[in-house]
Amino acid sequence: MIKKEDIDKIFETVRIEEVVGDYVSLKKRGVNLIGCCPFHNEKTPSFYVSPVKGIYKCFGCGKGGHAVNFIMEHDKLSYPDALRYLAKKYNIEIVEKELTPEESVHQNERESLYVVSSYAQKHFSENLYNTDEGKSVGLGYFKERGLREDIIQKFQLGYSINHRTAFTDIAIATGYKTEYLVKAGLTIEYRNEPEPGAAPQNPPAKAEARYVDRFWGRVMFPIHNQSGRVIGFGGRTLRTDKKTSKYVNSPETDIYHKSNVLYGLFHSKNAISQEKFCFLVEGYMDVIALHQAGVENVVSSSGTALTGGQIKLIQRYTNDIIVSYDGDQAGINAALKGIDLLLEEGMNVKVLSFPDGHDPDSYSKLVTTEELKTFIKDKAQNFISYKAEILTKGTQNDPLKKAAAIVNIVESIALIPEAIYRSVYIKECSRIMDVEEQILLSELNKIRSKKFNEKRNQPTPYSDNGNMEAPPEEPVVETRKEVSVADAEHQERDIIRIMINFGDKMVTIASEDEEGKPIDVEITTAELIIHELQHDAIQLENLVYNSVFNEFVACIEKHQTVPDQKFFINHENIAICSLTVDLLSSPYNLSNWEQHDIFITMEEDVLKKSIYNAIYSLKSRKLEIMIHDNQKRLKEDPPEEELLMLMQTQVQLLQAKKMLNALLGRIVVK
Ligand code: UTP
Ligand code: MN
Repeated sequence: MIKKEDIDKIFETVRIEEVVGDYVSLKKRGVNLIGCCPFHNEKTPSFYVSPVKGIYKCFGCGKGGHAVNFIMEHDKLSYPDALRYLAKKYNIEIVEKELTPEESVHQNERESLYVVSSYAQKHFSENLYNTDEGKSVGLGYFKERGLREDIIQKFQLGYSINHRTAFTDIAIATGYKTEYLVKAGLTIEYRNEPEPGAAPQNPPAKAEARYVDRFWGRVMFPIHNQSGRVIGFGGRTLRTDKKTSKYVNSPETDIYHKSNVLYGLFHSKNAISQEKFCFLVEGYMDVIALHQAGVENVVSSSGTALTGGQIKLIQRYTNDIIVSYDGDQAGINAALKGIDLLLEEGMNVKVLSFPDGHDPDSYSKLVTTEELKTFIKDKAQNFISYKAEILTKGTQNDPLKKAAAIVNIVESIALIPEAIYRSVYIKECSRIMDVEEQILLSELNKIRSKKFNEKRNQPTPYSDNGNMEAPPEEPVVETRKEVSVADAEHQERDIIRIMINFGDKMVTIASEDEEGKPIDVEITTAELIIHELQHDAIQLENLVYNSVFNEFVACIEKHQTVPDQKFFINHENIAICSLTVDLLSSPYNLSNWEQHDIFITMEEDVLKKSIYNAIYSLKSRKLEIMIHDNQKRLKEDPPEEELLMLMQTQVQLLQAKKMLNALLGRIVVK
């Protein structure tokens, strides 16, 4: 367990904009920073970071919190693991208290997978420099491919010894658990069945587990997540025979979800933001070679077909993409599929082909950085001319084939979500294919209405990956939870909102001195509210609000000070913490934080009015609830004596309500 002092130190040190900035490209907007939310899919940024308050908040999906919450949410880490991650990022030494056996069992398993993956990366890198085999075979190979020392280190390349258990043996001897080595995909467990390729035994081998390396005799490419932690590996064979597969890759694990990872993104994200476009290539080697050549805004989907999740990762940084796949049939097919998926996600797609069988890796070695950059920018074609070229190649102007190609292109255009872009591309297609625009437009409409009808007839608005999505062409309608009569939720929330936002602000109220003469007294907002509610014995029904309220009471009693916002933002009770973030970031105008700050200053001017407004509203609501309950009991035909009491109460309650409403009315009109 992490000590309280260390936790405090972490909270004091971390800068929310730096922590979030590792994952999201942020732009300055007034005193805040703004970017595209990493937790939901969006094209216009509604994700705010407030360095002053130390919090983030997405006005699109509602997620918000402090730096630790962000890491917990984003990397799916437990609270202590998120703290450990931040401590490491900021070089804060933490002293861990001795764990009880139960606690150590509950140590986050994902964190263990990160730890063994990082160990493996270091092990493979050391092989490259500290073993004879690594030096001659591994390092020799990278040198032969022309890689510089700094690039080998930047990408943490390595080598796995050509022995079936070299890594696993050392890892276990060093103290790593087999369980995690297996779960991280580094070690393969064989039980019962003999190892593939092994001769059948008679009698069959006992069902004893054996552990062997997944990677052996290969150069190693670690795969990093967006914050630079190693989550998996690709290992390339150095043999040229066709029997061994060229690459062995880590399997899906708890920390490596292939469809949501892009190779190179950690090293490329800043350049992607700066260059304002992303270059998508096929292989590990292409990414690395381009970095060496000075082009750093490059990622690879690494062997798997491009996925929607990967596209969303890119869209956090840019909407412009240049795709470059090999010129062979497999590469062309992958490019065509990728283009459609990218268009559907609303990206601006260009395609780059390299001359005479070159790939980005080989071509980058022929030219200077400047030439390479110019080549990429100038030679990238829009997807229409690329498709036109590919689809009409070798058809010798066969009219039927040309027609098929046109339909194919219009089908791609039909995927583009924005009408204005569709119309621009239709014009372009008309020019390139030499067909009347009108004809293309009617084809486009045919395709789109067919698709729309298909989608409408689909029974479910859920997408494949289980995330709920709005059906196409229909606005998402926000529904409000119905407020029940017996509920003062809204009023209670407003009280807590004022306490958290302005609890320590002084207000002047009229009181009396010991001799009964009227005097002005200055007290804090929190004290005023506490006094008012306790005076009428009002309890907050909502448990979280009530806890916050009690924290105020306790802190004022104990320390004679009002707890500040940080106290609640960093509160160990996650419900209190997320409530605080919500209240600090969304008083009324949800969409604009700058105005929000102006609003806060305005509200301070009229603070007293707001306080009394909130207090009276709450009291009035509580009265309504009491009246409602009383009435209900009256209708239930109670015994005579109770009836009389209930009726008296009813009169009193109604009177009190009238008085309160008069008070409220005065506040409002003032
Ligand atoms: P390439 O065959 O183009 O590999 O596959 P490469 O990275 O350019 O390697 P070199 O230049 O031959 O050394 C492109 C990508 O497809 C994936 C890898 O991610 C590779 O980088 N791949 C390829 C596999 O996962 N498995 C394979 O067997 C082959
Ligand atoms: Mn290659």
